[in-house]
Amino acid sequence: MKILLIITGSVGCYKSLDLIRIFEKQNIDYEIIATNSTFEFISKLLIEGISKKRIYSELFDLDMEKDIGHIKLARDNTHLLVYPATANIISKFSQGICDDLASTCLIAANKKIHFAPAMNKEMWANPVIQRNVKICKDFGHEFIGPDSGSLACGEYGSGRLVEPIEILGQLK
Ligand SMILES: Cc1cc2nc3c(=O)[nH]c(=O)nc-3n(C[C@H](O)[C@H](O)[C@H](O)COP(=O)(O)O)c2cc1C
Repeated sequence: MKILLIITGSVGCYKSLDLIRIFEKQNIDYEIIATNSTFEFISKLLIEGISKKRIYSELFDLDMEKDIGHIKLARDNTHLLVYPATANIISKFSQGICDDLASTCLIAANKKIHFAPAMNKEMWANPVIQRNVKICKDFGHEFIGPDSGSLACGEYGSGRLVEPIEILGQLK
């Protein structure tokens, strides 16, 4: 098993640090991409410190792109996991938008993607987002959650990120 973990800029992205610790404890092979929005919530240094890995975030990275790194990252794994998945990344993927490293790798991938959504309940319930989720599902991609419960914004409802401990059991 080799996982490409894509972290996006939801307030819940701090939970990806616990997921990385689970990967480490279980000796799971993985690489990490994080969107630039992620670094508004948790620092690249923190993710690097916990994972002891290089965190990929830039599409136009000369070092990596010498050997077309974004295609390698997209292909060199057995599982693709977006944890947490913002409304933005789900919608971009559903429309084929490739305007950063994360979204480009998702489109360049050749296997099923697991999205773990995390967002405010009204965002999740928005018919535009539900339509985009359906597009992804219709193409065979999986959604893990969201759970219902108390949300970071102080509201209660559906949109809560599934806990890290539950993720490995859901990767089919
Ligand atoms: C405080 C704060 C919390 C946010 N939390 C979420 C969230 O939980 N889910 C979500 O979809 N977007 C959330 N957003 C909006 C995203 O950060 C924004 O759509 C961003 O463009 C996502 O970029 P990315 O998908 O490239 O990471 C939040 C924004 C702010 C300012």
